[in-house]
Amino acid sequence: MCGLELIINSFSLGNFFTIIEKNYVSEKVKYGWDEKNLEAYNDIDKLNLFLQTNGMEKKNYEIYDFDKNNLPAVLFDYVISLYSLDYHYDFYLYKDYFKKILNKESILIFDTVRPDHFSKLFDKVKVINSIEKDTHSSKRIMCTGAKF
Ligand SMILES: C[S@@+](CC[C@H](N)C(=O)[O-])C[C@H]1O[C@@H](n2cnc3c(N)ncnc32)[C@H](O)[C@@H]1O
Repeated sequence: MCGLELIINSFSLGNFFTIIEKNYVSEKVKYGWDEKNLEAYNDIDKLNLFLQTNGMEKKNYEIYDFDKNNLPAVLFDYVISLYSLDYHYDFYLYKDYFKKILNKESILIFDTVRPDHFSKLFDKVKVINSIEKDTHSSKRIMCTGAKF
């Protein structure tokens, strides 16, 4: 749901990317869990500039502001959120939206501190990366077959 994922994925030419971000920069950087999802570190104009400077063409992506509640209700093949969804704020903030945009084959990848929780919500949960730190250890998981 941000820029880095697109730079990584820009090698797969011809795909269309939908980016969901906030258009807000918190005064102070806050680490850890943000219960109310009040913190954000993004300026949509700068994100546009960043993407285009790094070779993304405007016709290949669209940016949506999470707080404007106009997110696209179409099915997605892949949804990728690195160090954002369920790492800084609760997965359940997006659950109703995921109901609309994920089908059984859709692949959702995100980083979480509670990987076991997601076997209740998805048919398959695979750990694809593990970050071990004294604080905020996390797993990157790949989920398919949403059961909700
Ligand atoms: C630690 S950064 C990770 C950014 C990027 N995924 C990366 O790996 O470089 C967390 C990002 O989540 C964004 N964010 C916060 N709340 C959000 C929400 N509800 N939906 C989408 N993005 C959100 C913040 O603005 C920030 O850019």
